[in-house]
Amino acid sequence: MAIRIDYSNMIGEAVGGISEADWAAAPASFMKAHEGFAALRKDGMVGFADVVSDDSLREQAMNFAALVEGKYDDIVILGIGGSALGPIALRTALRPSAWNMLSAGSRDGFPRLQVLDNVDPETISALLDRLDLARTLFVVTSKSGGTAETMSQFLIIHKSVVDSGLQPVDHFVFVTDPANGALRPLATKLGLAALDIPPSVGGRFSVLTPVGTLPAALVGIDVTALLAGASEMVRRCETTSLLENPAGIYGMLQWLADTKYGKVINVFMPYSDPLRDFASWFVQLWAESLGKHTPDGGSVGQTPLAALGATDQHSQVQLFMEGPKNKVVTFVAVQDRATDVSIPRAFEDVKELGYLGGHTLGELIGIEQRATAGALAKRGRPNLTIHLDRVDAWHVGGLMMLLEMATAYAGQLYGIDAFNQPGVELGKQFAYALLGRPGADDAKKEWESIPAPDARWSV
Ligand code: PA5
Repeated sequence: MAIRIDYSNMIGEAVGGISEADWAAAPASFMKAHEGFAALRKDGMVGFADVVSDDSLREQAMNFAALVEGKYDDIVILGIGGSALGPIALRTALRPSAWNMLSAGSRDGFPRLQVLDNVDPETISALLDRLDLARTLFVVTSKSGGTAETMSQFLIIHKSVVDSGLQPVDHFVFVTDPANGALRPLATKLGLAALDIPPSVGGRFSVLTPVGTLPAALVGIDVTALLAGASEMVRRCETTSLLENPAGIYGMLQWLADTKYGKVINVFMPYSDPLRDFASWFVQLWAESLGKHTPDGGSVGQTPLAALGATDQHSQVQLFMEGPKNKVVTFVAVQDRATDVSIPRAFEDVKELGYLGGHTLGELIGIEQRATAGALAKRGRPNLTIHLDRVDAWHVGGLMMLLEMATAYAGQLYGIDAFNQPGVELGKQFAYALLGRPGADDAKKEWESIPAPDARWSV
């Protein structure tokens, strides 16, 4: 079992990468970043790397899942952002059969898992039309316990459950802060189970708390292996020695590439369908954590972009090869796949078909990844490859932790707080003002100060 980063295509002029001199100086800058992140952990401000070895938190998820085993055909998460993207990534990577609404019943003895992460009325109506509420568990996930999208979903579905003559206590579980927010007291009032998101763990860093482990346990993902992979990665990424620290290396490479070499875009491109939604999870992690104002009033942050190999070789790779030289590509390559398919030998006299026979699809996708990485490097486009032995719970937990810790180190290098998101506040306040939420008077005034749309600029 192994996770390895090959960053040969990041270093040196020939690949358009970081100079050897800059890389030689990196361990010294890393010491300060390491110190900053270690202090946040020690002070209990940032807990995502520590909670993965908290057995009682793991047991909350496992025990609840054991308690309700066999009761439900569908698990539906109501949540958004960090409360949704992690569970979606886990489902796609580790239990692809658990999402299929079209399958007749639950698969492999486990329920299906749906995630409602938007408030488009069409989606929620379609889902409610198809669900058998009597056989459905709704997992309401919100760290703050007050997010408008999630609360609206809850209000709608709570009414449907009650109107169907069902007991909310049998159909809802909350995942939220142990003390703060509206969900905790509501759980007490309604007699519902509520699992904890530790106060020191923010939304996009919460996938390895009950935010991800509860749905994972409910659909039969190996939570123990998931957390073991993450814990092992914490151990590897705690060293102050940059060159032995995978998260340090990843954060440092991206920070240097961005701030010294103009690589303002970080493309995350797994060559693996199970990791397709993992890329969206990473995009949120990198964007919301690192896109920030600096204390001196500047703005920083690499723009993450999700891509999928080999599919996007026929879509975005043209841009990566010949467009602006402002990108780093992070490939994820998988050594062994759950299954492989041989390509039959046939039509061997047809040039376009004959050479494929005798290979497997696993070989083809692996070779295409290496070929694309090599082609980019050859054209002076830096890239790195994270190698996974396979996509299983251990490796996915490890990869998530690697990237979370890399984000924390990168935050220190940028000199910003990677764990807040003040930039989303104004839009939220405007929405509150427009919806008439009490206490939004200042936002209302500010909203009204925005000039009305100008008819000249509309067609
Ligand atoms: O990463 C974050 O903190 C955010 O994306 C949140 O996860 C998102 O806003 C949802 O918040 P909450 O879990 O409080 O409902």
